Formats: sequence, structure tokens, C-alpha cells
Amino acid sequence: MHARRALLYMPGDDFRKIRKATTLGVDCICMDMEDGVAVNRKAVARETIVSALHTLDFGQSERLARINAIGSGLESDDLHSVLPHRPDGIVIPKVDTANQILWVNEQIASTETEYGWPEGSIILIAIIETARGIINLPTIAQATPRLKALIFGAEDLAGDIGALRTGEGWEVFYARSAVVTHAAAFELQAIDMVFIDFHDIEGLRREAQQGAQMGFAGKQIIHPNQVESVQQAFTPDDESIARALYILEAFASHQEAGLGAFALDGKMIDAPSVKAAEHVLARARAAGKIKGNGHP
Ligand code: COA
Ligand code: MG
Repeated sequence: MHARRALLYMPGDDFRKIRKATTLGVDCICMDMEDGVAVNRKAVARETIVSALHTLDFGQSERLARINAIGSGLESDDLHSVLPHRPDGIVIPKVDTANQILWVNEQIASTETEYGWPEGSIILIAIIETARGIINLPTIAQATPRLKALIFGAEDLAGDIGALRTGEGWEVFYARSAVVTHAAAFELQAIDMVFIDFHDIEGLRREAQQGAQMGFAGKQIIHPNQVESVQQAFTPDDESIARALYILEAFASHQEAGLGAFALDGKMIDAPSVKAAEHVLARARAAGKIKGNGHP
């Protein structure tokens, strides 16, 4: 599984920012054709993204393109401009229904057939940022195996439900939790909301840590300043990895001795603790910090 700890957006018509993004060691680079691009620059964005896909070395960063919403009238041109140039994935904003994902899935599948690329090689990521998207999560999350992650969009959701955004974010908390829960139910990664004040690194770090604690695999970001603290927040530190290994070993030896629950350093350990420890190791593995089962 590709690590998606940080997903950096930039306007698709800004070649300078795309080039800069390729130098940052960020897990995902999302070249935007939607809200980051002025209406009269959509065609320039499509051309610029195509040129970036051909001329830039993205290294380990995932090459994503965000199309305009299904029904905007722009989505088909967006998709068919970039698909022949083989991005790693397409990001669909404002997903309301599973059918919208299925439409994009069909377009990608026929492009893969046309060019003889392996089926499923171009992935899909859906942004959930409307009230209808939230209530349709059970079908959206199962729309197609091509779908690898769900993104939670707080700003658009707040606009859609008539909420005013606050620093604490309680107005979007139900939706944020719904996205991470449905993603987990169908083995998708969940990617948390944007923190728009790119000068406030402490605030960003707190919100990123909170997202990691909630079960998100990563966070959307909008500025190079945000890469390091966000990728760090979604990478287990050495202490958490050591603790996870310690719990798994202790659990295995207690199981052999016929004990399902036991005390470790004054705290109860049983099956849920093992699941939590396995999650920590899965994240460490995705971030390239450990290999295999984590033992040296
Ligand atoms: N990706 C790549 N590079 C970026 C970047 C981004 N998202 N945001 C800024 N940079 C670059 C700038 O080009 C500049 O590079 P330079 O020194 O080589 O010229 C450097 O980082 C510093 O940028 P700064 O001056 O602090 O920011 P700015 O005023 O140029 O831009 C924003 C501020 C918010 C407009 C910009 O960060 C941005 O475009 N963010 C993404 C917006 C977007 O895509 N929104 C839609 C999705 S939510
Ligand atoms: Mg949005």
C-alpha cells in the first residue's frame, strides 16, 4: 500500500509549484483542476499537468490529478486530457453517489484497455465533502476495488450544511468520524481535512496528531511548510513501534499460557490492544520505517 501521510495540492496551472512539489519528498502530489484553478484557466491547467507528467521526475511521490466535480460539465475534458498521460490516480471531488465513481471508473478502465495498461493500474480517490456524500458513504466506499482512499473535505462540507468553521471543528466532527469509520470498514485509507493557516505549524501539528489518533492515514496539505510536520504525525515514532512489538510478544506468550487478558505495566492487555498494535506496525511499514513483522 502506498503511504498517503500527506497529500499536497497545488493549482494545476502553476508549473512552478508542481516542480517545487517534486522536490519535497511528499507522499502524494495532487495537481488540481478544480477549486484551486480559476474558471478561465481550466484549459491551461490541463495542459500544464500533461506537461508536468511528461517532463518532471516525481521520485517516490504519487502523481494524482484532481478533476472537477461530476456534473460540472468540465469532468469529461479534465479526465480525458490527463488519462492518456498515465497519472498514478484520479481524485474526484464532491462525490455524492457511488454512480459518480462508477462513471469515472469506466472511463479509466477503457483507457487502460485502449493503451494496454494493466487493469486497475490507475487508482481512484474520492473526496467526501457534501451532506449527500456523507449519507451515501456505505455505497460510495464499496463502489469499486479501484477506490483506495476517502478524503474528508471540511470546508466544503461546512458550506453545504450551513455550519461555520471553528478551530475546534466540532461542527464537522460527525462527518469527519463517518469518513474514517467507513474507510476502515472497507479497507480504504482515510485522509483528513486541510489546515488552512499554513503559518501556524503548532496548530497544524495538533490537528494532524488528532487525525492520526482518530484513525486517519494522512492529511491534505496546501503548502510546502506543512509537509514535514504532517508526515511526521502520521509516522509512528520508535517508542510506539517498540511498544507495539512488546505488546504483540507479550500477547503471544500469554495466549500460549492460556491467558486472553493480562496486565502489562499496570494496564490491561487483550485482543483489542493487539489490533491497535498491528495498526501501528502497518503504518510504520507503509512509511518504510520497518519491514515485514518489524523484528530486526
Ligand atoms: N505546492 C507547491 N509549492 C508551493 C505551494 C504548493 N501548494 N504553495 C506554495 N508553494 C511554493 C511557492 O511557489 C513558493 O516557491 P518559490 O519560493 O520557489 O517561489 C514557496 O512555496 C513559498 O510560497 P509562499 O510565498 O509562502 O506562498 P504563496 O503566497 O506563493 O502561495 C497559496 C500561497 C495558499 C496560494 C499556495 O500555498 C497554494 O497555492 N496552495 C495550494 C492551493 C490549492 O491547490 N488549493 C486547492 C486545494 S485545497
Ligand atoms: Mg473541496
